[in-house]
Amino acid sequence: MPRLRGRRRRLWIWGMIAVLAGSLLAGWGQKSGAQPSLTQAQLEQAQYVRSCGGCHVALPAQVLPTETWRRLLQDPNHYGQQIQPLTGVALQLAWGYLRPNSRPLRQGEQVPYRLADSRYFRALHLQVEFPSPVRVSSCIDCHPRVNFGDFASLSPDWQS
Ligand code: HEC
Ligand code: HEC
Repeated sequence: MPRLRGRRRRLWIWGMIAVLAGSLLAGWGQKSGAQPSLTQAQLEQAQYVRSCGGCHVALPAQVLPTETWRRLLQDPNHYGQQIQPLTGVALQLAWGYLRPNSRPLRQGEQVPYRLADSRYFRALHLQVEFPSPVRVSSCIDCHPRVNFGDFASLSPDWQS
């Protein structure tokens, strides 16, 4: 079982808290004209979560290649379900979060539509043995704080 060193984990958590606090402050500051760049990133991620986090957890950008995200945002046929493809400002903002936070495919590589087929998802879970096939609904089994956008925290089973 992989052990996440306690110190690294604490750093993550505090980092997360600092980022959240910073974002809130920047949000307020924005009204008086301060720190527009941080607020742009925040807006983009918020739009992504709003558009893609309603039916299941909003997956973090780094788990799939950029090309997958580009297609998912604009395709109404979504894993056997119909969704409203993003358009206009919503599309621009969500893409503004996903594009810079994901990585491109190598030339000739097939576009993965399942996390299990994504080399980036696998790279983040090199030492993890999944008890069942990975699905959007199973992240929370090991990452109890996904509903807060926190994929760094792990359930007790996975902590050192
Ligand atoms: C109307 C509900 C709904 C919305 C909105 C929605 N999804 Fe989904 N999504 C689903 C369903 C249902 C599945 C299939 C779940 C399964 O097969 O386990 C799914 C599966 C996925 C998967 C596959 C994960 C895997 O490996 O099994 C990805 C990636 C995904 N959605 C991304 C997105 C993105 C990006 C958006 C925003 C554009 C989005 N979803 C919006 C319902 C939705
Ligand atoms: C069976 C347990 C398990 C499941 C299920 C699981 N993960 Fe993980 N995940 C882990 C562990 C353990 C780590 C830490 C690995 C390490 O640091 O070596 C991790 C790390 C991550 C990271 C990197 C976190 C960081 O920032 O340090 C991301 C992102 C992530 N997982 C996303 C997901 C998503 C999205 C899902 C659901 C589709 C998921 N995981 C399902 C166990 C799991």
